[in-house]
Amino acid sequence: MTTSRRATGVSVDIWLMSLTYKLRDLLLPRTEILKEVGIREGYFVLDFGCGPGSYVLPLSRMVGEQGRVYALDRNPFAVDAVNRLVLKKQLPNVETILSDCHTGLASESIDAVLLYDVVHHLEARYNVLSELHRVLKDTGVLSVGDHHLKRDDIIRMVGEGGLFELAFEGRRTHNFRKSDLNGGKH
Ligand SMILES: C[S@@+](CC[C@H](N)C(=O)[O-])C[C@H]1O[C@@H](n2cnc3c(N)ncnc32)[C@H](O)[C@@H]1O
Repeated sequence: MTTSRRATGVSVDIWLMSLTYKLRDLLLPRTEILKEVGIREGYFVLDFGCGPGSYVLPLSRMVGEQGRVYALDRNPFAVDAVNRLVLKKQLPNVETILSDCHTGLASESIDAVLLYDVVHHLEARYNVLSELHRVLKDTGVLSVGDHHLKRDDIIRMVGEGGLFELAFEGRRTHNFRKSDLNGGKH
């Protein structure tokens, strides 16, 4: 497991992903998906498995100056693509994290975690979900979408281990809250 905040370079994979996502995002702007989650001004958001950063610009605008966007990916080329976007669009409220699990973020500091098209990739799923559970506030939302998986499989996979329970769903997102592991006593 690695956590670092620097990366450089380009890769054909990320370039292709970026190109495909540009078309995808033209057909369905990412803001439409983010509206389902209820992202607000001032929110601290973690985009786990951000890829080339389709959600980063809309997120940065939605959370505003008081908010923060942490864009995390295990692929250094994805992180580099987001770093370039941050420079090009001048997004001071965005920070990138190169990691495959640990975020380096403070416990209970995050209002929303996005896990979009990532669940089917996760090898150490429980470890990642534990880390997301640690950084999410008790009132936070874990928003999941994965067009490679059926709805019931997403709910089962994210609910496994009892860390999260389904709270609400949109057309394209399944949104989870932290399970009350203390039985209501905090
Ligand atoms: C299909 S892309 C989705 C990108 C973005 N979330 C989107 O929907 O536009 C999946 C991304 O998740 C990243 N990923 C997969 N497993 C990961 C892990 N354990 N930790 C961090 N990133 C991961 C991959 O490197 C890839 O960039």
